[in-house]
Amino acid sequence: MAVKKIGVLTAGGDAPGMNAAIRAVVRTAINHKIEVMGIFRGWQGLINEELKTLSHRSVSGIINQGGTILKTVRCPEFKTEEGKKRAFDTVKKYAIDGLAVIGGNGSFTAAHEFFKKYGVSCIGIPASIDNDINGIDMTIGWDTAINTALDAIDNIRDTATSMERIFVVEVMGRGSGSIALAVALAGGCEDVIIPEIKSDLEDICHDIVEGNIRGKMSWIIVAAEGAASAAEIAGKITEITGLDTRTVVLGHVQRGGRPTAQSRDLALRLGYEAVNRLLKGETDKAVGLCAGKIVAVDLEVAIRKKETKIEQWYDLIKILT
Ligand code: F6P
Repeated sequence: MAVKKIGVLTAGGDAPGMNAAIRAVVRTAINHKIEVMGIFRGWQGLINEELKTLSHRSVSGIINQGGTILKTVRCPEFKTEEGKKRAFDTVKKYAIDGLAVIGGNGSFTAAHEFFKKYGVSCIGIPASIDNDINGIDMTIGWDTAINTALDAIDNIRDTATSMERIFVVEVMGRGSGSIALAVALAGGCEDVIIPEIKSDLEDICHDIVEGNIRGKMSWIIVAAEGAASAAEIAGKITEITGLDTRTVVLGHVQRGGRPTAQSRDLALRLGYEAVNRLLKGETDKAVGLCAGKIVAVDLEVAIRKKETKIEQWYDLIKILT
């Protein structure tokens, strides 16, 4: 069946570069003379019929903006049979032949289930600061989030060094330590605590005390939110060492801001690729970069726990500290 109309939506947590991906989807579709409908507020918009046709100009001036012009929500209703059915009714009513789903793990799980239940063609475009999509190197927005967090770490370093203090900086990433590891390495941080590898706080405290004896008085420890909160870690460090600590929770600061060149480039290339694959009749896949090449991974594989070489990365931080 020839594809005449596609829909595009952003779902889950926003990520810098989502707008660039929307732009690429819209302009690639228009280039193929395909109508493209923007679905507002993710899966919720499909349930509530919040959609409109997008023009070439409707995506002007957004390439450099964080967030998403299509808005996004987390949508528990789509997990219900009734929610999916209503979303499918909208797909039929507007004669949408396929969906470009821009989002992360949760959005891809929803797309996979939607395809399995109703046969709606879906191609996923991975966008999430968490970098938790399996089978691809990185998600759109991850690089921007790392750079945002790194700016903060560099600032904290100035005060940590001057006042000879211990800081615990909590970064986002849900169940993934990927932001924490990247930031700890590039920020020259003294330690990192991630959900994937068990950390021994007694050991960390021992290093701090030994360091103090040698005259090293300031520390930055990066904690992934999925491992423990900054407050919890800082409290235990003070309890064990008797030393004063400060905490910084970067939180949603990491989700916003101008996308980096890397996040934009990835978004534009993957948006283009997703539309071309939808037009070829492909479905139930996520596009992504893997070892420098654009690939398509089955959604069923993409939503599995990400296989990464976390240990090597972690060890490198320990060696270079
Ligand atoms: O999935 C992206 C993310 O920013 C996670 O890193 C974080 O745990 C979560 O979203 C926060 O979600 P919300 O913005 O709904 O509080």
